Amino acid sequence: MLGRVNHIALAVPDLAEAVERYRSVLGASVTEPEALPEHGVSVVFVTLSNTKVELLEPLGADSPIAAFLAKNPAGGMHHICYEVDDILGARDSLVAAGGRVLGDGSPKIGAHGKPVLFLHPKDFFGTLIELEQV
Ligand code: CO
Repeated sequence: MLGRVNHIALAVPDLAEAVERYRSVLGASVTEPEALPEHGVSVVFVTLSNTKVELLEPLGADSPIAAFLAKNPAGGMHHICYEVDDILGARDSLVAAGGRVLGDGSPKIGAHGKPVLFLHPKDFFGTLIELEQV
């Protein structure tokens, strides 16, 4: 079912500081910040040869990462995104196996313009999983 890791998303309390740290300390290639108001985050991508890391900062009043940062004020890993080639098939087999899909269970258009679903972190050992159709 799972393809490649599409991205790993880290929630950070201060995006500018995180960008500076990744650039200056890790020598990373980091994109310019992008506001995604419909997703409640501002984001940059740390571009790597095999995948990308997203640094996410809350944007707006009801950001989906606000509660996470309230619990983890220094920031932390928010989710990992795996690619799937059949998101509805993946969902149906997960649900048949007793897994829980967040929201109403239908894929939404994610931050990269492709259909995504999120799986309940309690079903996967504490890690929020995003599935992205490729
Ligand atoms: Co994501």
